[in-house]
Amino acid sequence: MTALDRTRAWWLAQRPDAVPLGAYWAPGRINLIGDHIDYLGGTVLPMTLDRGTAVFVLPRADRELHVHTLDAAEHACFGHPRADHGSASRQGNWRDFVSGLLTLDDRQPTEPGPGLDLIVSGDLAGGGLSSSASFTLALALAMMAHGWLRPLTGNELARFARAVEVEHVGTACGLMDQLAIVHGSDMGAVAIDCATADVTEVPTDWQDRELLVIHCGQPRRLADAAYNQRRAELGRGLVALGLPEDRIPGLSSEAVELRLGKGVEARRLRHVISEQQRVLAAREALAGKDWQGLGAAMTASHSSLRDDFEVSVPALDALVAAAVSTPGCDGARLTGAGFGGWAIALVQRAAREKVLRAAADALDRSPRTLDHFVASPGGAARSLDHRS
Ligand code: GLA
Repeated sequence: MTALDRTRAWWLAQRPDAVPLGAYWAPGRINLIGDHIDYLGGTVLPMTLDRGTAVFVLPRADRELHVHTLDAAEHACFGHPRADHGSASRQGNWRDFVSGLLTLDDRQPTEPGPGLDLIVSGDLAGGGLSSSASFTLALALAMMAHGWLRPLTGNELARFARAVEVEHVGTACGLMDQLAIVHGSDMGAVAIDCATADVTEVPTDWQDRELLVIHCGQPRRLADAAYNQRRAELGRGLVALGLPEDRIPGLSSEAVELRLGKGVEARRLRHVISEQQRVLAAREALAGKDWQGLGAAMTASHSSLRDDFEVSVPALDALVAAAVSTPGCDGARLTGAGFGGWAIALVQRAAREKVLRAAADALDRSPRTLDHFVASPGGAARSLDHRS
């Protein structure tokens, strides 16, 4: 059952007499390469997925906004945006994204929107597939279309969704996920220059290769605090170098080390400097269908995220090591913020089963219980036909 099917099933079971008003969808994403550099204006290579978050919209007789999250089996009522949520405190769960959207909407306080039931379901659990940006953007599309938020599109919409995470939820994230989801391509990855927010499609013919997405069995934990800590460490290093805090330094890692020594700040900066070079190499390899070159950049990226940026966990390391030592795998890495969750492996299609078996062995599981799928591009966030 797709996420949309689950929301429709709720409608048919709970409110069969209601006439649906619309359906909206925002994909998740993997990042081929370029992690933890978006907030320093780096260039990154994400690809949206055919998995995401669906929101089904039903009218209500009152003037309240009710959100039903089927995956958490929870429900919350959001009344008039400013009356109830202008000063809402954070609860540390999905409600913060909804109250963040309402709080940061910059319309003049007027009438609340019409009464709505928003039925939400997604298939991005586990960490690393951008479930939060997908959730925020799917809800934003539904709320914009039905009078609860000022309508925005393109980069403005992406920035608004990011502001919800940074200013309301409290994760100092970059703009990669929101731009990838708003501008996602159905032909492959996109290259995002996070300094200018320019997005370029990178259509890809994978020939006999595919991107296998595998969960390491360990959900992401305590990620927000650690994520913000990495950003602070980078900031400290950049300030010590007398450089802007929001740009990858135009220095070699050796020059940074000479000035900062071998401490944590220098290692964090070595990751961002080298990751940016790997993205450029990967993009060239992708254009030339040099799969070994692309795979090598991915595996080197994982090592850098593990050793210099320290955002991997043993299960992700074991999974990546098992994949890359299997013939037919060109390279593998964690994808997204790290701290658990999903990894990606570039593999020959014919080697898929062997890679999965090796990964399962390394994680001490049977291949049948290994959560995995083959990445398929998901296009951009959009409204769906709710009648079909
Ligand atoms: C999370 C953030 C992004 C980005 C990645 C790491 O997904 O939301 O902005 O920093 O981590 O690349």
